[in-house]
Amino acid sequence: MTEDNSKTSTEEPDYKVTAGRPDTSTRAGQLKMLYPTIADLRTKARKRVPRFAFDYVDGAAGADEPNRRGNAAALDGIEILPRYGGENYRADTSVELFGKRYAGPLAIAPMGLPGLVLPGGEKAFARAAAANEIPFTLGSSALATVEEVSELANGYAWFQIYRMPRDNLAINMDWIARATAAEVGALVVTIDVPARTKRPRELRNRLVLPYKIGPRTIADVATRPAWLRAYFRHGQNLFANLQKYVSDNPTPAEVAEFARGEGGGSFTWEEIARFRDAWKGPLIIKGILHPGDAEKSVELGADGIVVSNHGGRQLEAAPASVDMLPGIVAAVGGKTEILFDGGLRSGVDLMRSAALGARFNLVGRAFMYGLAALGEDGPGFVADFFIEELREALRQVGARDLSGARDLDVRHPTAWKF
Ligand SMILES: Cc1cc2nc3c(=O)[nH]c(=O)nc-3n(C[C@H](O)[C@H](O)[C@H](O)COP(=O)(O)O)c2cc1C
Repeated sequence: MTEDNSKTSTEEPDYKVTAGRPDTSTRAGQLKMLYPTIADLRTKARKRVPRFAFDYVDGAAGADEPNRRGNAAALDGIEILPRYGGENYRADTSVELFGKRYAGPLAIAPMGLPGLVLPGGEKAFARAAAANEIPFTLGSSALATVEEVSELANGYAWFQIYRMPRDNLAINMDWIARATAAEVGALVVTIDVPARTKRPRELRNRLVLPYKIGPRTIADVATRPAWLRAYFRHGQNLFANLQKYVSDNPTPAEVAEFARGEGGGSFTWEEIARFRDAWKGPLIIKGILHPGDAEKSVELGADGIVVSNHGGRQLEAAPASVDMLPGIVAAVGGKTEILFDGGLRSGVDLMRSAALGARFNLVGRAFMYGLAALGEDGPGFVADFFIEELREALRQVGARDLSGARDLDVRHPTAWKF
């Protein structure tokens, strides 16, 4: 598939500006020096938000959280063979998906509680999405409503749903109606949470909602003034998208109890078929690891799938998600849009996923680290970080754009074979 290069072909080549040499006279340039990698943002995040918030983002399933590192390690092991000798150019990172052009092949992944990590986080993500021309996927458990976020994101909001089985999926169907009215750009149906998972750090921290600042946690938050300021400014609009189904004016405890009691289970294919009928926009099934499930999604009319192991947060024995990507591309590439997530920490990682055949990506923890470390400025910094690194990475290998990345020679030693 050929990308439309018209937007950039008339621009001056900027081959002298590289990701490695930021302009330090600007604040953006100074931040680039301070945080040259996502790992640097993570280190800062750990110091800036309470421990329960950092551990909620950083943690994963299993005693040793094998998949959090496994996802990134599998990506690191993928080699790309560069080609030299072509002319100099400004590589085009933009991509068209479902009829809309985005500045880069990445969305902010759905993450349950951005507002726990930094109160007001959902709104910061929505604004950054609009400013940086990438989608923000609001999760149905988030602390802001789909209506609020859609308005702020100005055409760049997607909405992700979990299963609410009561009354024959009445809440799920109402969410779809609300997403339609709010004109969100895609509906993401997450299927990889069939059972509760055990994340040891959350248990150790006794992370229970609604979060209360009491004697036990006072020390944790007292040393985190930026978080406290945000907490007093934005409050905790817990499970904002659920409140209207609980009662007219539910307390946070009632909403949390409702969410715990009512949500659960993995969507069945029959339920997804109902969503396909009800939702007229792009439908994305998230959490696919097996090529057979990818085929089933295509059969049901999914416009896209996300190859994902939920960032290692569900099944610790699952493979690294990138190791399933080639098998899934072989099975359904060309029949649906293939999105990828899990362990993406650099523009080179985005190039790797493109080289393996993914059209688009979701980035989770990196955006949360940015939010926690830099507050309101964080999500935009991370978006820019990925796009700029991707542009340079494409030039490093001699690819003009993302479709050029598809033609590269790749060695992927840990890929699953079927
Ligand atoms: C803190 C956190 C909360 C998450 N909550 C959700 C969620 O509510 N719904 C969902 O589909 N995925 C959720 N995920 C998974 C992400 O959408 C995504 O699959 C994963 O974070 C990608 O891996 P990465 O964090 O290494 O980028 C969550 C991930 C994190 C880190």
